[in-house]
Amino acid sequence: MKKYYIRTFGCQMNVNDSQKMAGILKSLGYEPARDWEEADVILVNTCSVREKPDQKVLSALGEFKKIKNKNPDAIIGVCGCLAQRAGYEILQKAPFIDMVFGTTNIHHLPQLLKEAEAGNKAVEIIEDIDANETELDKYPTVRDNKYTAYVTIIRGCDKKCTYCIVPYTRGKERSRRIGEILQEVQWLVEDGVKEIHLIGQNVTAYGKDLGDVKFYELLYAVANIDGVERIRFTTGHPRDLDEDTIKAMAEIPQVCEYLHLPIQAGSDKILKAMDRGYTQKEYLHKIELLKKYIPNIALSTDIIVGFPGETYEDYLETIKVLKEVEYDQVFAFKYSPRPGTPAAEMRMTEKPETVSKWLNDLINLQKDISFKKNREYENKIVEVLVEEEKDGKFVGRTRTNKLVHFESRHNLLGEIINLKISKANRFSLEGELAEELV
Ligand code: SAH
Ligand code: SF4
Ligand code: F3S
Repeated sequence: MKKYYIRTFGCQMNVNDSQKMAGILKSLGYEPARDWEEADVILVNTCSVREKPDQKVLSALGEFKKIKNKNPDAIIGVCGCLAQRAGYEILQKAPFIDMVFGTTNIHHLPQLLKEAEAGNKAVEIIEDIDANETELDKYPTVRDNKYTAYVTIIRGCDKKCTYCIVPYTRGKERSRRIGEILQEVQWLVEDGVKEIHLIGQNVTAYGKDLGDVKFYELLYAVANIDGVERIRFTTGHPRDLDEDTIKAMAEIPQVCEYLHLPIQAGSDKILKAMDRGYTQKEYLHKIELLKKYIPNIALSTDIIVGFPGETYEDYLETIKVLKEVEYDQVFAFKYSPRPGTPAAEMRMTEKPETVSKWLNDLINLQKDISFKKNREYENKIVEVLVEEEKDGKFVGRTRTNKLVHFESRHNLLGEIINLKISKANRFSLEGELAEELV
């Protein structure tokens, strides 16, 4: 049997695309390789959101060259956002690559593979969106996790935040038809999935382009499918998160008490320069509504530090928001200019060392807040979906998206159980089973 190896960089969209590519390869008779050295097909699914991921990909190419030297028959393909943006550049830098394809051509993998096997360069990077891109949706995913599954509900992004490459690599917003989404959820549930994770770059914009359905209606429809025990969604945009959605989150029992709501910056001046479409006050009002309707909600966010024009006072506004909201988790990054975006034309105002210090201080502050949030769980009973067994322990997730490690003699994989939290760590919790299950 032929073997494949897929290396994935980037966000949930890329992870799901890789799972679909694995599904395509499985349908062609391939099986997964343990590592890239024994693979007949190697795919690198790239991200371009900051400079670091770009560099990671380019250094990975060096590794692949070694593999190509050892095993000249291995087919190496590069896809994803960096391929969409700079596929031809990649080919120039690494001419030994056999396949390069963009973010809306993934469903053509079988034909591309045939071409590459025939000894040709298989390249498909189109600027427009492939009219048949939803062909990809028909393939089953191959997932590491049996009990939770991503379901793409919207592709692309219309927001055009001034720093962001995504609208250029993923194109305009396209919502999937609700019937097709529900069909995929149905299949997943029949396959044993308990938790459905709806994904998109901007899920709260779902349905805008279709005109006849709203995001919160999709939430109700997914919840109505028998066997859906938990629902999550990523990423919501603060601008589109309306009260109807927040009410639906509170009302639908399966929707988990957790939301990732990127703020990016606390200062109104910077938010405006980023073209985020909200002020700090408007953002905090949404947080207030979330906490009002869903009192035990856990929250996370993304922050960019050092955007052009950001002063120390602007930065302190971000710190103020972190202290006020008390997020469970924060993903903070140094601003990275992306070619072709409006912000790349703006003048960088702070020294890189200063920005690094701001970022460090912010991360340290957040570490303490996250730990404090975790400690609130001690001695409490929480519902956990058991997802995997690792190093003799089971690992599950609370509805609020906290990892919990615990021991049991019984195989509890895929079960939803109650655990008593015995200890809080900075990044995870430890739990104990109720007597009757031990
Ligand atoms: N659609 C999502 C996130 C997309 S990218 C949203 O709107 O929130 C994921 C995160 O990467 C962003 O939230 C942002 O914090 C970060 N990011 C995007 N472009 C960046 C850039 N040029 N420099 C630094 N961080 C960036
Ligand atoms: Fe990028 Fe903004 Fe779209 Fe998110 S909403 S993907 S940050 S342009
Ligand atoms: Fe990266 Fe593309 Fe996602 S740029 S963050 S993989 S949409």
